[in-house]
Amino acid sequence: MLIKDSTQSHYTLSNDPKLQEGHAIELDKEDPIAHAIALFDIPQGVVYLDGNSLGPLPISAKKMAIDVVERQWGQDLITSWNKHAWIDLPITVGNKIAPLIGAKHGQVICCDSISVNLFKVLASALQMNGPTRHKVLSQQDNFPTDLYMVEGLEQMFGSHKCSLLTCSADQIESVLEQQGHEISVLMLTHVNFRSGEIHDMQKLTQLAHKQGVLVIWDLAHSAGAVHVELDECQVDFAVGCGYKYLNGGPGAPAFIYAANKHITSLKQPLTGWMGHANPFTFEPGYKADAGIKKFLSGTPSVISMSVLNAALDVFEQVNMEQVREKSVAMTCFFQRLVAQTDVLCGLTLASPLSSENRGSQLAYKHPAAYALCQALISEGVVADFRAPDIIRFGFSPTFLSFHQLFVSVEKLSAIMLSEKYKQAEFNRKQAVT
Ligand SMILES: Cc1ncc(COP(=O)(O)O)c(C=O)c1O
Repeated sequence: MLIKDSTQSHYTLSNDPKLQEGHAIELDKEDPIAHAIALFDIPQGVVYLDGNSLGPLPISAKKMAIDVVERQWGQDLITSWNKHAWIDLPITVGNKIAPLIGAKHGQVICCDSISVNLFKVLASALQMNGPTRHKVLSQQDNFPTDLYMVEGLEQMFGSHKCSLLTCSADQIESVLEQQGHEISVLMLTHVNFRSGEIHDMQKLTQLAHKQGVLVIWDLAHSAGAVHVELDECQVDFAVGCGYKYLNGGPGAPAFIYAANKHITSLKQPLTGWMGHANPFTFEPGYKADAGIKKFLSGTPSVISMSVLNAALDVFEQVNMEQVREKSVAMTCFFQRLVAQTDVLCGLTLASPLSSENRGSQLAYKHPAAYALCQALISEGVVADFRAPDIIRFGFSPTFLSFHQLFVSVEKLSAIMLSEKYKQAEFNRKQAVT
């Protein structure tokens, strides 16, 4: 099977019915972004297939963590707000994320969490599109926080101002067509957190706009893994996080994108002093910044944001077309390895079959998914579990090799064959899965 015409793709998967270790080695030799692997500090022997949950440590981020604590905070103290431009970090980091999601500068800002940022953009969009429209259309199996935030707004303002409407992925277009006149906002996650299924951003955004509906995309599983073109797709708003494929570290701040055409007029409700036009005049009365800074509320988390800023240097060494190309090759390679292994026949693919329709992850259903995942971690292959029965493998193209994928499927097969996963220690549920 060829991933693409070999003149277009740098990764050619062999047509041999059974893939071997040698095929992985060949793919690694062809890999034009293999140099990025050396930019990470990952424990020896670990195959990290969980960069879609928490990215590993880039060396640049590690150095920055030490510098921002010891020198900037420790030595330069409060002068660092100016001396090390801490005050500009939300914009600096936003502008570094912008090209990764197809946005021109000045439309992306780094701040808070996705959940808080969703509150800000949802409230902004509902005001822009009110008062006759009040429905927020989303997908039933969206990440829960996205739906919870709409429920919170509904409780606060009443269902005549905001009400959540959900449907399955395949009903989105028909609901838009039939109820579009009542819908204020279409809020979708671009790549589904469980299945990895990817939406056609351009098509759905256009369809929503035709009905007068504003669109918010959650890019949690897209930014840094999937080729995204927000400006070209004429998206209104987007949010995304810093700790997954962007490798910004645990709890790294998130980001907001707002299209230029909306920024001047929109009003976001968390009107903290950092979003004020002149925060250091300390004047009474809120006057929003004219630009994307109006989405700031309080003081930025400087340590985390500095670390994310340095982590993003990895993306100066690769471009998003290369990243997507390797990601597609990796999901295809892994999928074929699992499919050709008899002992893994109990794993049912819960992601789309075609790589074009999925992001950078593969989900498999298995009744013992949790225990399998724990047993795999004990063998140095880190994946994760999503209730009720999914084992999820994330393929971050920047730090993984094809050979590691081969090794991980070998280990998974051995665990299945030996039934190691049935041991009690792998069946005890921990707080975080
Ligand atoms: C699709 C999606 N949206 C939102 C979130 C939560 O983001 P935060 O914790 O930054 O609010 C996650 C977390 O994994 C996610 O996968």
